[in-house]
Amino acid sequence: MKALFATSLRYTGAVLEILDQHLLPHQEVWLPCQTEDALVAMIQKLQVRGAPLIGISAALLLAYLAEQGMTQTELKATAQRLRKARPTAVNLMNNIDAMLAVIDQGVAAIVARAEALFAEDQSLCQSMAEQGAALLAPGSRILTHCNTGGLATAGVGTAIGVIAEAHRQGKVAQVWVDETRPLLQGGRLTAWEMQQLGVPYQIITDSMAALLMRDGQVDAVLVGADRIAANGDFANKVGTYNLAVNAHFHQVPFYVVAPVTTVDSECPGGQAIPIEQRSAAEVKGVSGSFGDVCWAPAEAQAFNPAFDVTPAALVTGWILDSGVYDASGIEAFIAQMKRA
Ligand code: MRU
Repeated sequence: MKALFATSLRYTGAVLEILDQHLLPHQEVWLPCQTEDALVAMIQKLQVRGAPLIGISAALLLAYLAEQGMTQTELKATAQRLRKARPTAVNLMNNIDAMLAVIDQGVAAIVARAEALFAEDQSLCQSMAEQGAALLAPGSRILTHCNTGGLATAGVGTAIGVIAEAHRQGKVAQVWVDETRPLLQGGRLTAWEMQQLGVPYQIITDSMAALLMRDGQVDAVLVGADRIAANGDFANKVGTYNLAVNAHFHQVPFYVVAPVTTVDSECPGGQAIPIEQRSAAEVKGVSGSFGDVCWAPAEAQAFNPAFDVTPAALVTGWILDSGVYDASGIEAFIAQMKRA
């Protein structure tokens, strides 16, 4: 496999390495990833995360293992186990399917497919960035949720890719970064990326979005997606649905930004999207480079769905790599994808 470099994933010619997102922003530690068990653990701990990047990391690991001499039978079994690492982001399943389709063709085909998926994600990100930036007016104040940038993709990102491109064009006055409870992908990771990009930003707690919208401080909401169903409903980091309801009430445009690899044309609607349930400890405290803190009573119960579903009716536009769609447009586009 040739050398490949993304913000949080790299292959230097010898070993696949992952930037440990659990330790960001205070420590930048690259971890070697040479086995299926290691990658599954890193995905489950969110050391590697973000729908597109999870899929790319699985593809690259399969190519690496093929080069190390793993048999086709073993590679197929490994692929099936990687598929189950996280249930909501469909990019993982889509990329595993893309890899399974070439495993019988041998090592060169497997490596070529993984490299192509990596390059494709970079190019899809660039297209989304351009499509989305064109929608934004100069002086835009944008609210975003979770982390959807270079840390979550092989390229410039989805919603953050749009923000970065709009910033490059001089259109961004302010980004409101939702901290994104419980795992703080906004406060830790998006803030880190805004800092690196030189984008003016302020972190807010998730509960502050409504008052900013009421006060006319938000011109658009941009979020990513983990799975878009055939009717345009989509799953994204928990808290996205709250934002969509608030944006609808305050008549703030609400856009979802995602590559075609996030579309699940077989999924009829949001109610059919599997939602990952995570540990109560994540809600009862926080962990990271500073150690583990639990502020709730040790015996407290907590509800922790990692994602929620936003109905298509609350979405102003779907910014895909292929264009910007309204509600009828996205349904028609996905129906056409399914036929193809
Ligand atoms: O649990 P995470 O941090 O992997 O959740 C990530 C998100 O919800 C992102 O918005 C989504 O994956 C799109 S990333 C380009």
